[in-house]
Amino acid sequence: MSVSQFKVDSHGRRTHTCGQLRAEHAGSTVVLKGWVDSRRDLGGLIFVDLRDRYGITQIVFNPEHAAETAKAAESLRYEFVITVKGTVQQREVAAKHADMPTAAIEVMAEDMIVLNTSDPLPFMVSAAESRENTASEDLRLKYRYLDLRRQELKNNVLLRHRVYQSVRRFYDSVDFVEVETPVLMKSTPEGARDYLVPSRVHPGKFFALPQSPQTYKQILMVAGMDRYFQIVKCFRDEDLRADRQPEFTQIDVEMTFATEDLIYETAEGMLAQIWKDVKGIDLPRPFPRMTYDEAIRRYGSDKPDLRFGMELHDLNDAFKGCGFRVFDSTIEDGGAVVGIVVKGEGDTGRGRLDKLDKEIVRGKLKGGGLIHFRLPSDGSEVQSSVKAEVLPTSFVEKALAACGAEKGDLVLVMAGPAPKVFMQMGDLRLYMAREAEMISDSADGPWKFLWVTGFPLLEYDEDAGRFFAMHHPFTSPKAEDMDKLGTDPGAVRAQAYDVVLNGSEIGGGSIRIHRPDVQQQMFDALGIDEEEAQTRFGFLLNAFKYGAPPHGGIAFGLDRIVMLLAGASSLRDVIVFPKTQSAQEPMVQSPDSVDAHQLRELHIQLIEPDNKDK
Ligand code: AMO
Repeated sequence: MSVSQFKVDSHGRRTHTCGQLRAEHAGSTVVLKGWVDSRRDLGGLIFVDLRDRYGITQIVFNPEHAAETAKAAESLRYEFVITVKGTVQQREVAAKHADMPTAAIEVMAEDMIVLNTSDPLPFMVSAAESRENTASEDLRLKYRYLDLRRQELKNNVLLRHRVYQSVRRFYDSVDFVEVETPVLMKSTPEGARDYLVPSRVHPGKFFALPQSPQTYKQILMVAGMDRYFQIVKCFRDEDLRADRQPEFTQIDVEMTFATEDLIYETAEGMLAQIWKDVKGIDLPRPFPRMTYDEAIRRYGSDKPDLRFGMELHDLNDAFKGCGFRVFDSTIEDGGAVVGIVVKGEGDTGRGRLDKLDKEIVRGKLKGGGLIHFRLPSDGSEVQSSVKAEVLPTSFVEKALAACGAEKGDLVLVMAGPAPKVFMQMGDLRLYMAREAEMISDSADGPWKFLWVTGFPLLEYDEDAGRFFAMHHPFTSPKAEDMDKLGTDPGAVRAQAYDVVLNGSEIGGGSIRIHRPDVQQQMFDALGIDEEEAQTRFGFLLNAFKYGAPPHGGIAFGLDRIVMLLAGASSLRDVIVFPKTQSAQEPMVQSPDSVDAHQLRELHIQLIEPDNKDK
């Protein structure tokens, strides 16, 4: 069809959306507009599924009813945009359409105008035919506007919208003010690389895009705003994973005169509001809490997935003095022997366990090696991967009893330096649970929330030979640990917390330092001298001199929350125009080069990347 054949839209406004008509509309004349989701030609009688954001309505083109219109319908192809005028008629709901809200009716077309055509599609978007989407992600991202027409992605966009509304309604109801902070700002220390924006007006100077509005929100507390929130874009140039994007959205919150309890209560209120609005669920509150140390000891993770058990067991006591060199030396060196019980896997074949050891434990987790004990389901003798001459049965029995293993179970054990071996076992625990399909990405829960509290304030980096802030340098030490800051910084615990859902960190925050002298002590522990502190954070230290109130806050990863609510497995499914794993956006093709003139204006000269930079 050539463009000249397009007719003007003489139908006027649509009377209904494609998701609106029901049996009670039978007999009325309607105008619907939308995309051709599919077309079936039954020898003259043509059925078109017309789709818009709201749903799908079946349109019937019958040559006996309107001959010319039915003829025109023969030219319709996937994704043509049309307007249809017709009469609503009732029809029998076929079982396969039982969950389609408009299934009780169809529209008998009297007139149809093609408003636009569509080229053949690079992949199917039809609701009827796109359930199994096999197009590569690159192709889907390049044609994101088509991908977004698919029901699944469209629903994620709508879900996200509802989450924004819940968040705003909740915070407004408890006196928080929404404040926008600058996007062109100065580097904030959240631990990732900054995205920089060169200044044209100030040669050689750069803005940094916010990794978070951390310093601004603290200054808003000094400014007397009392309760602040913002739904805000943050930018971090860091290695990407399924749950990390370089550009992501936080629900950022700060409160004056905050205590940890007050922050937990308010955060739980917001999350409960979202779950109520979106899922119709009343979340049980308060959420359980666990210290960081306990989380590492029991789950080998600072974000334990509580949807299943399979807790870690410290087997040092059971194996102490067993004579098996690997265990003995680990225990003597202050390390740990750690086990998990995998229920019902006691008959697993040796080959599978060798593969698990090689590919997962030594390969992925970089562990020293896996030791296993199989307790066959027929109650026969325990099968150990270490001979009884090397590891006496009496010790094995003690260990199996210590971790509560029963016949039919598999016990997996690793030995190594602590706390690393706990983390490795934590990863193995997750791997085994996924393998056994004990957990999956589901929009239907269960929803296992948890507060992880009492994080260490600082983390020692062997390579750099110095301490780094585990959360960020504005986090307050616990009052009782304050005096250790100068003497034993590694032992200081922070007033910092994360909120975890189903093994994902969905938020994190802290009570802040609000006194310049304590802030300076913290900078000292981090090896930031007074001059550097002044250059980087002088504005904040100055602000603290003028009656800075005690304050604290939290930021939630909005994308992660929506991802979990949607049962999606990647943030890319809940961000309209996401970046790929290699931090590019295939549709607009960013980042892109700029012309020499622009660079000159910005006083920038490019250096050829050498191989190591690539
Ligand atoms: P933090 O760095 O822990 O804290 O970030 C808060 C939450 O943001 C989410 N998040 C991300 N989501 C997607 N992609 C990323 N690259 C990414 N990085 C973080 C996580 C995380 O829990 N200013 C502090 C908060 C505070 O102290 O109040 C901060 O940004 O869900």
